[in-house]
Amino acid sequence: MISKDTIKKIQDVAEIVDVVGDFVSLKRKGANYWACCPFHGEKTPSFSVAPAKNIFYCFGCHKTGNAVTFVMELEKCSYPDALQYLAKKYHIEIEETEATPEQAAQANERESLLIVLEFAKKYYQQLLTQTDEGQSIGLSYFKERGFNQATIDKFELGYSQDAWNNLGNEALRKNFSKDVLLKTGLVIQKEDGKSYDRFRGRVMFPIHNLAGRVVGFGARTLKKDDKPKYLNSPETAVYVKNEILYGLFQAKTAIREQDLCLLVEGYADVISLYQNGVQNVVASSGTSLTENQIRLIRRFTENVVVLYDGDTAGIKAALRGIDLLLAQGLNVKAVTLPNEEDPDSWVRKIGGEAFKEHLAKNAKDFITFKVELLLAEAQNDPLKKATVIRSIVESISKIPDAIKRSVFYKQCSELLGIGEDVLVTEGNKIVLNEQKKIDKQQTELAAQQSKVDTIANELIEQQLEKQQKSTIDEIIAYQEKESIRLLVKYGQFYVEHDLQLWRYLFDELEEIQFHTAAYKEILDIYRKAVAESIGVDEEYLMVHGSPEVQKIVSALLFERYELSENWHLKHQIFIPKEKDVLPHVVYTNILRLKHRILEKLIAENMKKLTLLPTEEEQNECLQTHIALTNVKNDIAKTLGSVITGWH
Ligand code: UTP
Ligand code: MN
Repeated sequence: MISKDTIKKIQDVAEIVDVVGDFVSLKRKGANYWACCPFHGEKTPSFSVAPAKNIFYCFGCHKTGNAVTFVMELEKCSYPDALQYLAKKYHIEIEETEATPEQAAQANERESLLIVLEFAKKYYQQLLTQTDEGQSIGLSYFKERGFNQATIDKFELGYSQDAWNNLGNEALRKNFSKDVLLKTGLVIQKEDGKSYDRFRGRVMFPIHNLAGRVVGFGARTLKKDDKPKYLNSPETAVYVKNEILYGLFQAKTAIREQDLCLLVEGYADVISLYQNGVQNVVASSGTSLTENQIRLIRRFTENVVVLYDGDTAGIKAALRGIDLLLAQGLNVKAVTLPNEEDPDSWVRKIGGEAFKEHLAKNAKDFITFKVELLLAEAQNDPLKKATVIRSIVESISKIPDAIKRSVFYKQCSELLGIGEDVLVTEGNKIVLNEQKKIDKQQTELAAQQSKVDTIANELIEQQLEKQQKSTIDEIIAYQEKESIRLLVKYGQFYVEHDLQLWRYLFDELEEIQFHTAAYKEILDIYRKAVAESIGVDEEYLMVHGSPEVQKIVSALLFERYELSENWHLKHQIFIPKEKDVLPHVVYTNILRLKHRILEKLIAENMKKLTLLPTEEEQNECLQTHIALTNVKNDIAKTLGSVITGWH
């Protein structure tokens, strides 16, 4: 049996375009790739692949799935066979099979970089434990730092010899291509064509991606006064620095289990804490935190504790990180350590258990932390104090959730001895200013979108109506589908400062019964998930939905792109990005849906009229007709005023 870990690894690594591309020749068009469907015979391509979502979908035969199911379907093989195939493709079962240079030469660029990096990691590991230099310098340094063998193995630490061409020569001797070596940044080429190893005489910290593959290295010098202290791999095709957190591969299970992520600065901090039983820890590796890194953390938890070295430079840098974390809706606490200590030195001094206690006792929510820190700095200078207040209010205003915001205003007011209303007013000013900027852009974009909307909808509805047999039900189904499309694609987006699209849509749709069963199912899955605070995206629906839902989700992912492609040419209009005018798009969609549903109700009501026996009943029916018509007309009027040309 294949372990869950391995399956996860395979799924993390297997990129749909890469996997499918081995079997059919894909052509890129916009965000997606197209080919003639390998599952049914055809001459014009209707088979599409969405790299962003890691799924494929055929418009002809409606087959859909991910990389694993693609292999299963195409090779007509079992699930384990498909996994085995992918594991082999990505060299995931490393124990038995070490990738050969021949394989590296055949693989695509990304994969060949990964293979060379894997080779280098093993080479550095071997130097550490099996050479005199490695043992006497590298290994004894690690031992001196208190790292035990299990830790050294777990983090795959190594040593690079103090020589110019050690790694480069060994790699070339093993037939790895020089070109790939240069691309990994492990070897550097001078202008005269000669090349040398980037890392020399340093202890090596491999940096892993989420799937556990080495994408780069951090390397610490062992000489006093050697600069820089840590030398890092450059950005490469596989090492995108703002998307990697050091230690996350080793920490992710613990982070999920404890629903908490500790954020530190250095490689040594992560490793020391890990060895001492504090395993839910990652490092930003000396750079300030990025949005992408935060998104990575949020895949595992919403709770973050930031740990600082005692010095002020570290604290200042981390404060910037906190605002970013807040803006992404995470719950942030901060802990300072005693002067002159970093997490590594401190945990070695007091041990893991005491360290955890220290965290539990001293972790302050960010607001208390920031207030105390900045106030201490401002002393009693009233001007400085005003700046402090402003900066804190700015932080609070970044929090998307209104309830959390108000809690912080209250707390801040107590800490600063300033009226809550003053703070709220200040904060609202900031929010309002931001909002004004956004509103202005949106108004301009919405005007454009209106034109697009009108043409698009009229075209489609005309088409539907022209097909004679197509009924009001089909038109309603079309509008339902639009609602579902918006929900699936943008459910987690905000349409207002603290109102996510799904919530808005659900409120508006509360009294409406969807007619189409599969759309109803999507609504149900979504409702259930958000009730449990699960963020739903397309992938979630692909996993939890019936085959019918899976088809719809796949189709939705591709359709709009197809439709919009020619319109702007035909109608000579600029199409704004839908994402930027979401409030407008979702608002008009709901109005259209309601408008059509009312039309249906009115028609049904009128049909009833002729069948009613008594005048009294007929009168009642007419009353209903008038009421419904009034509402319908109101909606039409509203639509008319938001969309030019609607009638
Ligand atoms: P520190 O200088 O605080 O190092 O840098 P440290 O982690 O305590 O290292 P030790 O204990 O002396 O071994 C914190 C982090 O900043 C990055 C590294 O990721 C380091 O772990 N850094 C630091 C660099 O990338 N380059 C440098 O020259 C220094
Ligand atoms: Mn240190």
